[in-house]
Amino acid sequence: MQIKEVADKLNTTTRTIRFYEQKGLITPEKDTDNDYRTFTDTDILRLSTILALREIGMSVENIKQILHNPDMSMSDYLNVQRSALFEKWIEMKDMIGTLDTMIAQTADGNYSINEIFELAQHLKNMKAMRKYWQDKWNFDKQAADYDQNIKMAGYRFNVHMDYHDALAKAAETVHLEAGDVCADIGVGTGNLGEKFLQKGANVIGIDQSEEMLKVCRQKNPEIDTRKGHFFALPLLDHQVDAIVSSYALHHITNPEKYVALEEMSRVLANEGQICIVDLMFLNEEHRGYVINKFRNEGNTKAIEAIEDEYYADRSKLVSWLEENGYQVETHQFNDILSMIYAVKKK
Ligand SMILES: C[S@@+](CC[C@H](N)C(=O)[O-])C[C@H]1O[C@@H](n2cnc3c(N)ncnc32)[C@H](O)[C@@H]1O
Repeated sequence: MQIKEVADKLNTTTRTIRFYEQKGLITPEKDTDNDYRTFTDTDILRLSTILALREIGMSVENIKQILHNPDMSMSDYLNVQRSALFEKWIEMKDMIGTLDTMIAQTADGNYSINEIFELAQHLKNMKAMRKYWQDKWNFDKQAADYDQNIKMAGYRFNVHMDYHDALAKAAETVHLEAGDVCADIGVGTGNLGEKFLQKGANVIGIDQSEEMLKVCRQKNPEIDTRKGHFFALPLLDHQVDAIVSSYALHHITNPEKYVALEEMSRVLANEGQICIVDLMFLNEEHRGYVINKFRNEGNTKAIEAIEDEYYADRSKLVSWLEENGYQVETHQFNDILSMIYAVKKK
């Protein structure tokens, strides 16, 4: 087929096609005498893929990688693109929300510039939080051995004590019917998510680590794995019936945890459930008591491990949930591990 026919067929312009050719995305055969291009069926298929990916906002550079990188499948790239779009969408929503508040505050002409400035600063901080969070534990590297490592008790500090009981308790506590949607945030290799698959739920496993998602997919191909972050979940508003999360929330700081809870609330349906199993203390006093206990035992390894992460103050998470319309129950497994189960009231 000639370039004009291809352009008509794909509802694009000859100029666009030449641009992708220049960028090396397509290489139609050229007649050496007159420079006319001939497009084969494969060229046309490739071109329609490029146009589709451009339509969903993917950069030319990323498209080039998709077409040339055998290690990543089309679906992997689409997944990455979806997460990027969700992040942009959430950022836009925040901007519009801030703008609405500014308009409301300035409507009667009587406003404080400080308040407007604070709103703008808050927005800026939220953007920075989403952009700059870093995985200082390198979960990509941990992925292959993760399931093996949780079986090890550790020399003087067993961070995974009661791991299996805690996941089982979460699965028993969250009520889901076949077809309900359950998002597991920080899904890792899928150990909690798979328990909900067994109940017939549709499980969406979200994680910031590609490698964890890869292992999760290998073990549980039925889990819909999505690259995403506590601060920008790749989910629509009120899309899920339950959110579960195990051993993940302690990788974000305490102020960041409230942003994560807000994000969970955004995606949760009415009367939806949140179940968090994580490393946390009951409150500040309890934290002091546990750390002191380890100190008296000379267990610096335990103290170092605790201080390397952000164990929550359970009482504060519970207060936030109650103030935001949830009915909350808690369960303690051991000194450092608790479960919070919250149901969004009507
Ligand atoms: C210790 S693993 C727990 C995995 C699994 N939930 C379990 O119980 O075995 C923590 C997981 O949380 C993910 N994670 C940590 N911080 C995250 C964040 N800010 N957003 C999304 N995932 C995160 C990590 O990539 C990792 O897969």
